[in-house]
Amino acid sequence: MPKPAKVLVFDSGVGGLSILREIQSRVPGCDLYYACDNQAFPYGTKDETELVARVDAVLKSLDRELEPEIVVIACNTASTVALPRIRAHFSHPVVGVVPAIKPAAEASKSRVIGLLGTPGTVQRQYTQQLIDEFAGDCEVVRVGSSELVHMAEKKLRGCEIDKDELASIVEPFYRNKKLDAIVLACTHFPLLLDELMAVARFDVKWIDSGEAIARRVAYLLNETGRRADNRSVLIASYYTAEDPLLAQTFSQFGSPSSHLLRV
Ligand code: DGL
Repeated sequence: MPKPAKVLVFDSGVGGLSILREIQSRVPGCDLYYACDNQAFPYGTKDETELVARVDAVLKSLDRELEPEIVVIACNTASTVALPRIRAHFSHPVVGVVPAIKPAAEASKSRVIGLLGTPGTVQRQYTQQLIDEFAGDCEVVRVGSSELVHMAEKKLRGCEIDKDELASIVEPFYRNKKLDAIVLACTHFPLLLDELMAVARFDVKWIDSGEAIARRVAYLLNETGRRADNRSVLIASYYTAEDPLLAQTFSQFGSPSSHLLRV
């Protein structure tokens, strides 16, 4: 039986856990590691140059510490700006999570779709290219929100979510009654799916990248020839600033230990 390959899932905060849980439930045979850069959180309001340098530094540090075989940048904000540079710096495969515009356009009958991401992601050149390529005939309603990212962080730390605030953030989507699909273009947002559905004014399809990323990881694992049959386990988690509530969240996702990573 081959030794399980190490797969590192990385985000600024808890959002990447929405990707981790998809990998855990769909991809057997890997040792999972989760890392979040909570010291530099949130990424969504950061300037692009600063963000690329930070992600590069954190991933280099994680690379030395863990020597992963596959890295998943479970963050749309970072992936839409830093992927080419990160890929150039590492010899192992780097999987990026980018807005699921293509599946949303495929799912939409009305050709009106919503894009819910961080302020950075919704206005990125890369995101515009995805829209031009895959949803050129769609009207795209964009909402960029950092408050929503903070809400997901709070929820996973066991705090109450303000439903009125949530409803007012997503209100622009419901001004056009034809809208029939919303892309969750931030990995934090699938963690708020129940709450988003509870404040929805009418039925829409909610589309995120989790399943596609899990499929990509499964494919890459096969390529490495290191795919074992056991259930994938979360071996450890890392953060860049001490936060006891975060360590508790990680343990709820099955992490036996959390470690401080110095960048
Ligand atoms: N989870 C991240 C994303 O997918 C961003 C959150 C942040 O602003 O740090 O975009």
